[in-house]
Amino acid sequence: MSEVKLHPVMSGWSDRAHLDKEDYEAMYQASINDPEGFWREHGQRLHWSKPYTQVKDVSYDEKDLHIKWFHDGELNVCYNCVDRHLADKAEQTAIIWEGDDPKDDKTLSYADLHLAVSRFANVLKDMGVKKGDVVTLYMPMVVEASLAMLACARIGAIHSVVFGGFSPDALAGRIEDCNSKFLITADEGIRGGKTIPLKASVDEALGKAGTECMEKVLVVTRTGANVNWVEGRDVKYEDALKNVKDECPVEAMNAEDPLFILYTSGSTGKPKGVLHTTGGYLVYAAFTHQYVFDYKPGDIYWCTADVGWITGHSYMIYGPLANAATTVLFEGVPNYPGVNRMAQVVDKHQINILYTAPTAIRALMAHGDKAVEGTSRKSLHLLGTVGEPINPEAWEWYFKTMGDERCPIVDTWWQTETGGILISPLPGATDLKPGSATKPMPGVQPAVVDNEGNILEGATDGALCILDSWPGQMRTVYGDHQRFIDTYFKTFPGKYFSGDGVRRDEDGYYWITGRVDDVLNVSGHRMGTAEIESSLVAHPKVSEAAVVGYPHDIKGQGIYVYVTPMVGTSPSEELNQELKDWVRSDIGAIATPDLIQFAPGLPKTRSGKIMRRILRKLAANECDNLGDTSTLADPSVVDTLMKERLNK
Ligand code: PRX
Repeated sequence: MSEVKLHPVMSGWSDRAHLDKEDYEAMYQASINDPEGFWREHGQRLHWSKPYTQVKDVSYDEKDLHIKWFHDGELNVCYNCVDRHLADKAEQTAIIWEGDDPKDDKTLSYADLHLAVSRFANVLKDMGVKKGDVVTLYMPMVVEASLAMLACARIGAIHSVVFGGFSPDALAGRIEDCNSKFLITADEGIRGGKTIPLKASVDEALGKAGTECMEKVLVVTRTGANVNWVEGRDVKYEDALKNVKDECPVEAMNAEDPLFILYTSGSTGKPKGVLHTTGGYLVYAAFTHQYVFDYKPGDIYWCTADVGWITGHSYMIYGPLANAATTVLFEGVPNYPGVNRMAQVVDKHQINILYTAPTAIRALMAHGDKAVEGTSRKSLHLLGTVGEPINPEAWEWYFKTMGDERCPIVDTWWQTETGGILISPLPGATDLKPGSATKPMPGVQPAVVDNEGNILEGATDGALCILDSWPGQMRTVYGDHQRFIDTYFKTFPGKYFSGDGVRRDEDGYYWITGRVDDVLNVSGHRMGTAEIESSLVAHPKVSEAAVVGYPHDIKGQGIYVYVTPMVGTSPSEELNQELKDWVRSDIGAIATPDLIQFAPGLPKTRSGKIMRRILRKLAANECDNLGDTSTLADPSVVDTLMKERLNK
């Protein structure tokens, strides 16, 4: 990776930032030497109605797996994000909402937010929502989405936000899994100039088996469209508001009471309900939001995520509001009505910190300077990315074109499961290497682990594990604690396994290489796909091979192999059998490929990395759901693979 250009801490940042290099090192060391003392201190950033005396009670031992933080303390998340700021920031803007149409926007001060959330919470109470109930949200990016989340937190209800882009089926599955009795939606959403029939999707979802638990549906008016109405079940938000009081007391919650469920897909099985709790989650979201984004009072902060994802929870709502920030909610998409929309929003609201995803950056990069046409972006001082590894080319474009070479980029690595950022540069403390998430946050102990679970030292690569807990860690898979243990703590006993591969360079920087869901489970046996691949490429007639899992009725996962034969070798039934026998004898019967597809070429990024995500989808016969293929060097490869796929 010698071609990667180092970007040293930018001038001015080590003075401006909360932490410079030495501060970071000292803080990191302190956090590792005495995690209890460290988090005891940082837990104080919140208001506790009953102070904690206990800090950490964690065991990663699978026989006694439990994770508790601040567990004798009591607090309320909504109080911490809203009420607490009224004393000195009542008139400060809490939320700037920017509509899909550039003419639409509104702002809410902390006082406005307090009133709106209290009233929303009273609507929920009138509907019968009680502490501990699960409330499903299926919302567009309107202010009411944030009100709904905070209102749930206020009265101790658990929210489960389902991304508004999910299908009725997906919604139904998530309602059924958590037995949710209440749902909040809107008549329609608006994105990129198109309307999204949310209420119609809800009606369809609630017609499916398994959703009989649903009692009440609260419908917020966004477009005023004429929607189907089920008397006795559906409640119009604007009508319900007419009858409620302005005050709603906050519910005192134990630090380990659930705050929310957020469903996320694993490599197999139905989506997991990732459960986050109250105290540790908020401490960690607020702590990381402050240090990673170097948040200072007065900064205008924009995270472009949808509320349906963890980024929308931790870094659009909870982290920023806990820090009394001004946070922007954007209803639209980065390239509507024009490809310079994102840059225009930056100018319009004088955004200082912009946090978005590599995929959005690459989409804009394709338009070059047009993506910033007519804008100055002078207000920006920090950029961030999240969600996938960012290729250095996109990093440099973001740096040069969006940020005018003035703004450091924080490439933040984390997961739905981690609640908050675990590996990221800090703008005043970390020299940047494009494509690297760089260094761990204080309190986070990453480890690179080999297949046997040995911790590797120095420059190396392997599986990314975390050795000890941090307060924002998920506590369980909702309703299935065993699945939590099995998914994250069985692979490498005693360690949290992220499911990602990683490389650590000679400077101790971490480079996420993507999911290693190429660890298969075939008939209950774990199989490394790399092992099968190296066996195959050792065959004289094989040029390249890629192995992925696919759903198999009997084995759970079957082994699907893509093979590019050597030039001059033709695919044939004989070769197919020869390769199966080869692998069987090389590794064992368990590794015998179920399906071998001969492929003239494999889908690769422009930097030559095989896009396994696409191969996995093709193998699973999910061809209509391939996701973003814009980074492929040669998209036609996929068409050929699709035509000849075996698992039809
Ligand atoms: O593979 C990693 C990738 O996204 C996964 C987590 O996805 P999700 O739970 O949906 O959360 C996304 C937002 C936090 C990780 O296992 N990922 C996330 N951030 C990065 C990343 N890969 C590389 N670099 C990142 N900065």
